[in-house]
Amino acid sequence: MLLGRTTLSKFLIEQLRGTEDQADLAALLVDVTAAIKTIASMTAKGALGGYLGSLGTENVQGETQKKLDVLSNDAVIQSCEWGGLVAGMASEELDEPYQLPRAFERGAYLLVFDPLDGSSNIDVNVSVGTIFSVLRFGRLGEPTVTDFLRPGVEQVAAGYAIYGPSTMMVLTVGKGTHGFTLDREIGNFILTHPDLRIAEDTGEFAINASNERFWEPPVQRYVAECKAGRTGDRGRDFNMRWIASMVADVHRILMRGGIFMYPKDTKEPAKPGRLRLLYEANPIAFVVEQAGGVASTGRGRILDLQPESLHQRVPVMLGARHEIERLERYHREYDSGSDKPFASPLFKDRSLYSAEGRA
Ligand code: AHG
Ligand code: MN
Ligand code: MN
Repeated sequence: MLLGRTTLSKFLIEQLRGTEDQADLAALLVDVTAAIKTIASMTAKGALGGYLGSLGTENVQGETQKKLDVLSNDAVIQSCEWGGLVAGMASEELDEPYQLPRAFERGAYLLVFDPLDGSSNIDVNVSVGTIFSVLRFGRLGEPTVTDFLRPGVEQVAAGYAIYGPSTMMVLTVGKGTHGFTLDREIGNFILTHPDLRIAEDTGEFAINASNERFWEPPVQRYVAECKAGRTGDRGRDFNMRWIASMVADVHRILMRGGIFMYPKDTKEPAKPGRLRLLYEANPIAFVVEQAGGVASTGRGRILDLQPESLHQRVPVMLGARHEIERLERYHREYDSGSDKPFASPLFKDRSLYSAEGRA
């Protein structure tokens, strides 16, 4: 059983053979996995390692940093800065791109990451993750913020790690989406879930329903119809899940189908969504598309967006093709004013949503 398995390094070397990225991209992704093993060890030790709790500091988004947010950020930087493979790195936890020490050689790639996703779940021992995205730098010199502002279609690799009952890594280099499980005794990620596919249809959705009154009408319509189940327009029952770690919610979708939504809401009107484009939405969208799913803002493909700032937020809806296409249709119908009134009591009063958003 221990012999003949496909390790992550072997898999990457085979997938990238003959491409312009063959040597360096595999090496960079192996460096990323070194960080992931460190983070896996810290999250597994939990309170025994003194890793739980907050630091009392805030990141650029005004969020209180947990100890593990910062330690995970350091783990990725330390694993990836020295090898001459990256030209620069940007992270959720750093206001500006990381300044690579002068002593280290510069490489061909930019690494963008969310070192610990779902950090509100750390202290309650619920699955968290790490999300990463690799872009080509494409020029000489030191990268500036503008160099990182590239649409998701330009990613050459992306993926995530999930620290759950087992630690897994799911990634794509543009040739399908593949899952690996960490064998802790040996210290290798082993290919366990080749060629993951997301079914086009589903009966399961994930959303933070406490924000319902802040959503736009097309999302309210979609969720109201799911909740009405077989007694409503959809004529069938739906199930709901919400883990509050995007990585864990997306992983469930890759394993058994479904959709995930973190739509735009009016809770904090200045923020067009909760999730960040460069290091949450784009890498996850790449993974989802490569598994046959769809990743949308509700009004367009996430991977086509031209980023405007490093920590920019976007609405995110992803997973089963037919359901995301339905959500996009509800947005179109709402924007054009051709949507019909709904059976849900929420929608009896059209004035609820007629004044807003239809300029
Ligand atoms: P992070 O911990 O990196 O800031 O990301 C948390 C994100 C995402 O993982 C999750 O889907 C969402 O925030 C949870 O939001 P709620 O607090 O609204 O449940
Ligand atoms: Mn996150
Ligand atoms: Mn995070």
